[in-house]
Amino acid sequence: MILVTGGAGFIGGNFIRDWLKNSTESVLNVDKLTYAGNFRTLQSLEDNPLYRFARVDIIDRPELDILFERYAPRAVIHLAAESHVDRSIYSPAVFVQTNVVGTFTLLEAVRSYWSHLDNVAKTTFRFLHISTDEVFGSLSPGDPQCCEMTPYAPNSPYSATKAASDHIVRSYHHTYGLPIVTIHCSNNYGPYHFPEKLIPLTIARALAGEPLPVYGDGQNVRTWLYVLDHCSAIRTVLSSGIPGQTYNVGGLNEKTNIEVVQAICDLLDVLNPRASGSYRKLIVFVRDRPGHDRRYAINTRKIQKELGWKPAETFESGLQKTVQWYLDNQDWINEVQSSEYRKWVEFNYMQRA
Ligand code: NAD
Ligand code: DAU
Repeated sequence: MILVTGGAGFIGGNFIRDWLKNSTESVLNVDKLTYAGNFRTLQSLEDNPLYRFARVDIIDRPELDILFERYAPRAVIHLAAESHVDRSIYSPAVFVQTNVVGTFTLLEAVRSYWSHLDNVAKTTFRFLHISTDEVFGSLSPGDPQCCEMTPYAPNSPYSATKAASDHIVRSYHHTYGLPIVTIHCSNNYGPYHFPEKLIPLTIARALAGEPLPVYGDGQNVRTWLYVLDHCSAIRTVLSSGIPGQTYNVGGLNEKTNIEVVQAICDLLDVLNPRASGSYRKLIVFVRDRPGHDRRYAINTRKIQKELGWKPAETFESGLQKTVQWYLDNQDWINEVQSSEYRKWVEFNYMQRA
C-alpha cells in the first residue's frame, strides 16, 4: 500500500480519490484533521476496502511507528502541512511545528522503518515530498521562470517552513540514502478547495453576494494548475522520478489575481446570472498582504522532457470545471464554513477594509 499524509486536505483528498480510480493498490490516509482537513471530502470512500484512515499528527513519532509497522507501505506521499500564507503571517508557530518538526519526525519514522527493509524493498521504496514554488521567492515581470536549480529565497513564514522541510528532506537522501523525490508545485485549484484561498473564496463569496477582496493592486502573478493534473504528476513522479531529484510541476499559464477574479465573475455571469448585474460589481481592492510576493512562475521543462508529464487542462477549461463543481456542491461549501472559518474571515478581512 501507499501512505498519504494530509489526505483529508485539498490536494491529498483529490489525490486519494484519483489514485483509487486509477489503481487497485490500497491507501492509508494519515491526517490530523485540522480546520483544513475535511472528512466529508472522502466520505464516499468509507466503504472502499482499499481505503484506510488514521487520525494521527505527524509530530507523533510513536503513532507513526505503529502505522509503519502495521501497514508496511511501499511509498509515502507527504502532503500534510499548514498551507495558508495569510495564516502563517498571524500564527507562524504551528507552521514551524507541522511543516518543519512534523516533516522531520515523519522522516525519522520512515528512516527507521526503511532501514529494516530487505534490499529490494529498500531500493523500490519512495518518499515523495510535496513542496511549493514559493520557496524560490518573488520574481520581477521580466525574470525567467524558476527552474529546479533556482536558489531558495522564501519570503513568508509559510514558504520559509516549506524551504526548511525541503532541506531536511534533501539531507536524508544525501546522508542516509533514503529514496526521496521532491515536487515543487505552483498554485493548485479545483474541487474541494478550502474557501480561504483565492479561487474558492471568490466563488463562495460571489455566490453569497459578498464583496470579492483583491489584495493590493491585483497585479500579483501566479501560475495555476488544475488539481487533477497535479495528481497525475504525483503518480508520474512516483513511478518514474529519480531518487534525489526535484521536479517542478505547474500549469502552463501566468495570471494576475485580478484576471483570475474577473474570469470567475464572467463564468458565473453565464452559469448562474444575478438579477442585480455582473458579479464583477462585487470586486473590491483591499489592503495588501504583508510581504506579498509579486510573481511566481515555474519552468516545467524537466518533468515534461524527462518523465513525459504535462497538464491536461488549460486555465480556462480547469476554471470552468471548478466553478461548475462549486455550483453543484454548495452543501460542501456550507459545511466547511464552520464557526472557526467565519472567525478567520472576519479577522483577515476586517483589518484589510
Ligand atoms: P491543505 O491545507 O488543504 O491540507 C493540509 C492537510 O494536512 C489537512 O488535511 C490537514 O488536516 C493536514 N495536516 C495539517 N497538519 C497536520 C499534522 N500535523 N499532522 C497530520 N496532518 C496534518 O493543503 P493542500 O493545499 O492540500 O496542500 C498539500 C501540500 O501541498 C502542502 O504540503 C502544501 O504546502 C503543498 N502545496 C500546495 C499548493 C496549493 O496550491 N494548494 C501548491 C504547492 C504545494
Ligand atoms: O504557489 C503555491 C502556493 O499557492 C502554495 O504553496 C500554498 O499552499 C497555497 O496556499 C498558494 O499560496 P498563495 O498565497 O499564492 O494562495 P492564495 O490563494 O492565498 O492567494 C493567491 C493570490 O491571491 C495571492 O497573490 C494573494 C491573493 N489573494 C488571496 C486572497 C485569499 C487576494 O487577492 N485576495 C484574497 O482574499
